Amino acid sequence: MSMLPTASVATIGAHEGEQVSLAGWVYNKTEKGKLIFIQLRDGSGTIQCVLFKKNVSEATFARAQALTQEASLRVTGSVRADARAPGGFELDVQELELVGPSPDYPIAPKEHGIEFLMEHRHLWVRSSRQHALLRVRAEVIAAAQEWLNSQGFVRFDTPILTATAAEGTTNLFATDYFDLGKAYLAQTGQLYVEAGMMAFGKVYCFGPTFRAEKSKTRRHLTEFWMIEPEVAFATHADNLALQEQFVSAIVQRVLERRADDLQILGRDTTVLERCVPPFPRISYDEALELIAAQQGVVEGAEPLPWGEDFGAPHEHLIASQYDRPVFVERYPAAIKAFYMEPDPQRPEVALCADLLAPEGYGEIIGGSQRIHDAALLERRIVEYGLNLADYQWYMDLRRYGSVPHSGFGMGIERAVCWITGTRHIREAIPFPRMLYRIYP
Ligand code: 4AD
Ligand code: MG
Repeated sequence: MSMLPTASVATIGAHEGEQVSLAGWVYNKTEKGKLIFIQLRDGSGTIQCVLFKKNVSEATFARAQALTQEASLRVTGSVRADARAPGGFELDVQELELVGPSPDYPIAPKEHGIEFLMEHRHLWVRSSRQHALLRVRAEVIAAAQEWLNSQGFVRFDTPILTATAAEGTTNLFATDYFDLGKAYLAQTGQLYVEAGMMAFGKVYCFGPTFRAEKSKTRRHLTEFWMIEPEVAFATHADNLALQEQFVSAIVQRVLERRADDLQILGRDTTVLERCVPPFPRISYDEALELIAAQQGVVEGAEPLPWGEDFGAPHEHLIASQYDRPVFVERYPAAIKAFYMEPDPQRPEVALCADLLAPEGYGEIIGGSQRIHDAALLERRIVEYGLNLADYQWYMDLRRYGSVPHSGFGMGIERAVCWITGTRHIREAIPFPRMLYRIYP
């Protein structure tokens, strides 16, 4: 015997006038004399279920009266179109069965402090804002992968337990690995996805990545999800062209398919609608000039000497000059990762770019052309204080049929924050891991 309902809220319109069963949870309930209104949430949507005392048994009416917030239930009734109902349909209930009671649900429909909500994240994900946010997240992930698949990319999974660092040695999570010494949780899949690129031409990896960053900003997680395409024979210019198409395709799909969720989130979609190629490009040097010229406009965006990295206020100031995401390219090589190809005209800068989202959301993508010359890569590994012996497999990629190639990584949570207009990254992932949070 199945417990599954015969319909879902999202597709209820196909059942107008029919009798169906629905299963879900009580989002809200109000009683008006002989009428009980239940907002039933089934994960796909919310529908108003109406019980009229005259139409149901006394026991059924009593069961409905006793329902509390988030109790689970199954209902049977007929689907009625009602222009006033949110979603356009109501259910006229004939039968109601309690599945699991929910006494004293901790998250009442009143304001709770953020600490309380974070402690109850496992329940908080049921509430409408969080639900909408995480649905957009799922759409972003699906859109990103499906777009790459449609462009001939092959998904190439990379390990999480690794022997080496790829993005600096100061933020590694280490764990003992049997008799082989230390293993580190991957900061990126990039080095491995470069091996895949040599096998398949166009590849991407997608998975959780880890940074033991002792930062408490609203943009940092210690565990975040990243999608990292890598393309053989692609130059820095090709890389930027791919990124703007990729980001625009994701945003346009979210606009098309998740309009309801963006509305629940109160997102101003006009900014998203403008997110079409070409995205503006500005060099690191030009960005420094801009910051100097606009001193005092954004708090904390003080002028910087050449060679310093931008902080969040600087990124905000740069992005605020444009109506869509902007590439900042050619950063000083010394503040970027060891694998980045130097600009042949100016070796002190790298053929790299960060993509900054509008409205102060900051960097959502980091990418570059990679060093393909074996001798240069070897020098860089040593200069960065890394142990050359650990990178022999990576060096092999430059010894056997090396080609110029480029790639990038988009942080899913950063992209979701921007697309949904969410200020703090802790809401862009079901269970955020941060400096002071590992529960629940
Ligand atoms: O700029 P990052 O460090 O670049 C890399 O890891 C490259 N290996 C990617 C590549 O070229 N294949 O990180 C890329 C993106 C950032 O732009 C940001 O969106 C996200 O990953 N990110 C974080 N998101 C949340 N919390 C953190 N601590 C993050 N660090 C990076
Ligand atoms: Mg970066």
